[in-house]
Amino acid sequence: MSLAAVPARAASGATASGAPPAGEAILRRQRVRESAARTYARSFPIVPVRAHGMTVEGADGRRYLDCLSGAGTLALGHNHPVVLEAIRRTLDSGAPLHLLDLATAEKDDFTSALFESLPAEFAARARVHFCGPAGTDAVEAAIKLMQTATGRAGALAFTGAYHGMTAGALALTGNVAVKEPLPGGGEVVRLPYPYGYRCPFGVGGEAGAELGATYVERLLDDPSGGVVPPAAMILEAVQGEGGVVPAPDGWLREMRRITAERGIPLIVDEVQTGVGRTGAMWAVEHSGIVPDAMVLSKAIGGSLPLAVVVYREDYDGWRPGAHTGTFRGNTLAMAAGAATLRYVAAHGLAERAAVAGARMTARLRELAAELPAIGDVRGRGLMIGVELVDPAAEPDACGARPADSALALRVREACLARGLIVELGGRHDAVLRLLPPLTVTDEQIAAVLERLAEAIAAASASSAPAPASSSVQASPSSAPASGSAPAARGGA
Ligand SMILES: Cc1ncc(COP(=O)(O)O)c(C=O)c1O
Repeated sequence: MSLAAVPARAASGATASGAPPAGEAILRRQRVRESAARTYARSFPIVPVRAHGMTVEGADGRRYLDCLSGAGTLALGHNHPVVLEAIRRTLDSGAPLHLLDLATAEKDDFTSALFESLPAEFAARARVHFCGPAGTDAVEAAIKLMQTATGRAGALAFTGAYHGMTAGALALTGNVAVKEPLPGGGEVVRLPYPYGYRCPFGVGGEAGAELGATYVERLLDDPSGGVVPPAAMILEAVQGEGGVVPAPDGWLREMRRITAERGIPLIVDEVQTGVGRTGAMWAVEHSGIVPDAMVLSKAIGGSLPLAVVVYREDYDGWRPGAHTGTFRGNTLAMAAGAATLRYVAAHGLAERAAVAGARMTARLRELAAELPAIGDVRGRGLMIGVELVDPAAEPDACGARPADSALALRVREACLARGLIVELGGRHDAVLRLLPPLTVTDEQIAAVLERLAEAIAAASASSAPAPASSSVQASPSSAPASGSAPAARGGA
């Protein structure tokens, strides 16, 4: 399949009969029928009809390189043969497709594949709970589990965190824009995440992370610090929706030490970082920490919906039905997920992600020297962020210039015009988030980088605001509920 974006079939966009092409009609109907909260559809006004690997083909005949991969869901890209084969085999077997949480061979096999993939020390004493099929439900489950185990209510969470859209998970999320319209904020104590480029302590680097760890420890020990002993601390080893911010390994080890010493269960949310994405099968492996619970979703279902919480057996104080739900037995997702987990492990795709990610990051850093709008390039494995800034503005004490959201919108649009799907995230929606599949080829990496460089150069050259086309509707003024809210993207 050619990697090049194929131009639209007809310049006018009209069919021979004069009627608008099916894609345009579908987009128009979606705009009038679906809720104002729809998200990615605003950023990418395309109607995908076929997809294979990293390539998505729209109803208009154009092809795109997909650097969003279902917000990190598609570890093997779209419709990987191994995933399709697992789904077909399961369909042909006549296995029931919906089974609440009854025992099945598919669930048994998925659980084996999952436990084989987890860090051995964690897996040795782990239990798994199958949740409703979204990351946010597994976050709810993890918090409830720890509330039950500790008898405490509140939780510790971090600035920039994204944990989902249901009430409990939203309370843990950092993005104020999506929380503000809703009553109540839950009992969540917000702690500073080590974001080197925009350091909460104005210091940056490892020193900023060390200050953050000291602050957390002293706050928890301060009898007048206002923190009631919490049920858990929850964190992402690399924040995704928060703008692709990797935490230093040393800081993660400090969080593990601080929580362990105070009897606070540590939940690591690996919904986005899991299954090889960061260059290790699970992001906790980089630091070697052993959490008390891991929340997993996205890639574990091999592109179909699946979410679990895996936790140390000592915390299993739940009563039967304590976290139940109708859709916790998705047979096809378990088959596709088991096939994906085994394929990633057998083909060394985590290692491949580390190498490919390092190459992409190095090239992007070179580009930053040529394109002053690139303020920071960071990430881990194939979870890469490019923070766009206003190069004409004064840098702060740490050398960071103000985020340029308007430029980021133009870059996203310029990428799409060049056949590249790249989504934004982070503070002020100014971070380009690159999440190619782990199977991305060297040729595709070169094409992504070329299109991205062209798009940033072209968007930087035009200082005009992004056109508020009726089909895109992504400008913050036209779409306050999602166009300006990175956290709203996670759940697709
Ligand atoms: C780290 C993290 N946790 C939780 C979620 C929520 O997952 P879902 O959208 O499946 O509810 C996301 C989604 O992006 C995520 O990135």
